[in-house]
Amino acid sequence: MQPEFRSLTPADLDAMVVVEQAAHAHPWSRNLLADAFGERYFTGALWHKNELLGYFIADRVLDESTLMNICVSPAWQGRGLGRRLLEHYFTQCRALGLSLLWLEVRASNRAALALYASAGYQESGRRRNYYPALNGAEDAVLMQMAL
Ligand SMILES: CC(C)(COP(=O)(O)OP(=O)(O)OC[C@H]1O[C@@H](n2cnc3c(N)ncnc32)[C@H](O)[C@@H]1OP(=O)(O)O)[C@@H](O)C(=O)NCCC(=O)NCCS
Repeated sequence: MQPEFRSLTPADLDAMVVVEQAAHAHPWSRNLLADAFGERYFTGALWHKNELLGYFIADRVLDESTLMNICVSPAWQGRGLGRRLLEHYFTQCRALGLSLLWLEVRASNRAALALYASAGYQESGRRRNYYPALNGAEDAVLMQMAL
């Protein structure tokens, strides 16, 4: 199985909603996903034939980028695709001249925190009780990396 990279288009919105709702405990709405096609955003996605396996959504402002969303369909997790998507994001950032990368992640999201740390992100701060959670709220971990 050799997944291929292809950027997302508005025609992929239905497939994005399916992956988003399966992958995330707190998924983005369809409207929020549709905003990913606005001017300040860019995307990348991994496909196997016509199946969307995972994607990322990022924004860009001056020479900075924030990774807004990255997810892999649960059936495809744990096979290196999240790491490949993140590396694809770095490649696109370099091509766009973006050198300071940011993200925010739930403090309980151990898989994502491990992925980001192993890719070179470092914690730069916390927003206390930022995200709604089952037991009230949980912290956002802010991470940054210089490319
Ligand atoms: C985070 C996510 C994108 C990782 O994708 P993936 O394809 O499963 O990850 P990979 O197989 O490429 O693994 C990359 C690294 O992530 C970490 N990781 C992945 N799954 C993990 C788990 N269950 N527990 C701990 N670390 C894990 C490891 O550091 C791993 O590196 P290693 O294999 O060398 O140990 C995926 O778990 C996901 O879609 N989660 C739901 C959505 C989400 O939380 N997104 C991030 C916040 S927006």
